Amino acid sequence: MDKHLRLKLAIQKSGRLTDNSLDLLVRCGLKYSRGKDQLLCFGENMPLDVLLVRDDDIPDLVQEDVCDLGIVGQNVVEEKRLAFEARGISPLFDVVTTLDYGRCRLCIAVPDGQPYQGAASLAGKRIATTYPNILTRWLRDRGVEAQVVTLSGAVEIAPRLGRADLICDLVSTGNTLTANHLREAETVLESQAVVIRTPKPIAPEKRDWLHRLLARVDGVQQVKESKYIMLHAPREALPMIARLLPGSEHPTIVPLEGTDEKVAVHAVCRENVFWETLEALKAAGASAILVLPVEKMLP
Ligand code: PRP
Ligand code: ZN
Repeated sequence: MDKHLRLKLAIQKSGRLTDNSLDLLVRCGLKYSRGKDQLLCFGENMPLDVLLVRDDDIPDLVQEDVCDLGIVGQNVVEEKRLAFEARGISPLFDVVTTLDYGRCRLCIAVPDGQPYQGAASLAGKRIATTYPNILTRWLRDRGVEAQVVTLSGAVEIAPRLGRADLICDLVSTGNTLTANHLREAETVLESQAVVIRTPKPIAPEKRDWLHRLLARVDGVQQVKESKYIMLHAPREALPMIARLLPGSEHPTIVPLEGTDEKVAVHAVCRENVFWETLEALKAAGASAILVLPVEKMLP
């Protein structure tokens, strides 16, 4: 296939989203070979190339039409969106799907032992961050005048170096803060991974695969929590049992050989099925309850 008719998707090269993003693509059916430079995964069974880049570059690559799609944290998307707007450029990437990984938060963190008395107490302070646009908006929304010290990395050591009084940085496990004697004080933004795409028209040859890929991403997202549940139930208990099945719309009712009072109920539950649910189903009259994992789903 013509090289420029292959879809291009950018993901983080090394970081909290990398493994999950590659795993998601494999679950979408992608078989890839990784180039020698490790910066490109060539899709062998789909016209899709995966570029491994710095996460901060992903919105720009989509903006500039180098990539059709990107998987990146909402933190980066929001920071870039505000940065583009500040420069009078309208951002050319649409968030299409929220993914269920990469959860983290952008936080104000203060050196251990230092009190934090709310946003107002930040007035006149120097705050180091790699997210100047999000932080500036957050401060402005609260009417706080503080000095935003924009760094390109290693924000967590800024207070010790005397470059700032406190920081505003991403936290997921909290290990980085602890290691640097910092304490989480307030959340500025919650984040998780999202898929972004160019809003520009995509060549028809690519469009079909783009839609297929996005549908598969949705399918993978949905099956993760989904379970297939099978049980026997007395007919009169059906309304009650239908209500107890978590996130299932239309259960299938199947007659059982040799009995009219009981039927088999099959349903896809789009939420996890816990022991409590099974116990409640049993109490409602269900028996022979089976819960199976769902491997693939295409709504
Ligand atoms: C963030 C942040 C910390 C770390 C916090 O960096 O700057 O270094 O993650 O994670 P923890 O709470 O689990 O210790 P990130 O991974 O986004 O790296 P990047 O800024 O280079 O993209
Ligand atoms: Zn980054």
